[in-house]
Amino acid sequence: MDIKQNFSLKKFNTFGVDVAAEYFAQVNSLEELLEAVTFSKNLHLALLVLGGGSNVLFTKDLTGLVIQLDLKGISEEKISDSEVLVTACAGENWHGFVEYCLRKDYGGLENLSLIPGNVGTSPMQNIGAYGTEIKDTFVNCKVLNLKTLEVETFGAEKCSFGYRESFFKKEGKGKYIILEVTFRLRTRDHVIKVEYGAIASELESLGTERPTIQDVSRAVINIRQSKLPDPAVLGNAGSFFKNPSVPKKQFLEVQKEYPNIPNFPQGEFVKVPAGWLIEQCGWKGKQVGNVASHKLQALVLVNATGGASGQEIFDFSARIIESVKDKFGIELEREVNII
Ligand code: FAD
Ligand code: EPU
Repeated sequence: MDIKQNFSLKKFNTFGVDVAAEYFAQVNSLEELLEAVTFSKNLHLALLVLGGGSNVLFTKDLTGLVIQLDLKGISEEKISDSEVLVTACAGENWHGFVEYCLRKDYGGLENLSLIPGNVGTSPMQNIGAYGTEIKDTFVNCKVLNLKTLEVETFGAEKCSFGYRESFFKKEGKGKYIILEVTFRLRTRDHVIKVEYGAIASELESLGTERPTIQDVSRAVINIRQSKLPDPAVLGNAGSFFKNPSVPKKQFLEVQKEYPNIPNFPQGEFVKVPAGWLIEQCGWKGKQVGNVASHKLQALVLVNATGGASGQEIFDFSARIIESVKDKFGIELEREVNII
């Protein structure tokens, strides 16, 4: 295994921020991973694992070792005449994996088409889109315990999934490396999820009356491509903030003043689209220095010139948080992992 020093991470994060890692290794097997982890332990180095780099913001050069996890492979086990368990190694590209399942006509992940990043990262924030989250089909994941160097298996309960949350972002943060993930998918009688309004109308405009899972995937891809910037063209990490859940009482106060506020009631809380709040504060499409809020989706911050530093993007996000707090009294929380 080749351990590089003072290595630029510009190509390893979708914001395209240019920071250096003190040490950097790309690993292709569990043996190489153990070798890299042992190297970091022996030198008492901090350790950071990277997948596709599509949900990180590097604000400074990184001391310690950065491991880019490139474990590859997909396997399956049929468990009944209508269900299959499909396991993918951490370094498999997420959308490539979704396409693999669609080619085999395995249903359950189609609404999650075109999400950037790798399979191994999908449990980190329980990736979600268009009415589906991975927790809906997740069976378990194999992880490397960084303290014991043993491989363990975590079921859904241990992962403690929530909206853009999991055990791995909380108590388990920095303690485990996810090696592979297993999903339970359907081989027939597919459940087509079109409750998310935009999918139903996109399917209609595609002229599909009895949509297949492949049609749903096409509709999701079309919607995503119509508003989300392609990181290969314009650096970004998707939604920069989570959609806030506001206590009902507080929401009703805000609604009195802003009757048009979009809202999704959830028990005692109401979810409000952060994109709307940010747009109302005048940030949509606005550029300051090298950073902007995207003109088609205010929730997505972009490296507008390609020359933004992580700190500049972070400072821009702090100004947005401040404006939203001032105008609506609602505190936005960053979704992107700040490193
Ligand atoms: P990275 O950025 O490489 O890592 C993210 C975090 O996970 C880091 O803290 C890293 O240390 C840690 N990590 C990475 N791999 C492992 C591992 N194997 N074990 C332990 N820790 C690990 N997300 C959604 O949920 N829904 C969306 O619709 C969505 N749309 C997006 C659209 C765009 C254009 C972009 C750029 C991003 C979008 N995202 C979305 C965010 C992102 O795609 C997901 O969070 C994705 O799961 C990140 O995967 P990654 O491999 O790139 O993670
Ligand atoms: N909106 C605005 N202005 C904007 C953007 C959005 O007013 O500039 C309002 C509109 O009312 C719109 C609503 O926000 O109807 C929702 O917008 P959208 O459907 O684009 O979804 P989102 O809530 O902004 C979330 C996820 C996305 C995911 C989509 C589809 C979060 C933080 N983001 O975005 O995930 O792809 O729904 O399910 O939950 C990501 O996590 O990186 C990500 C892209």
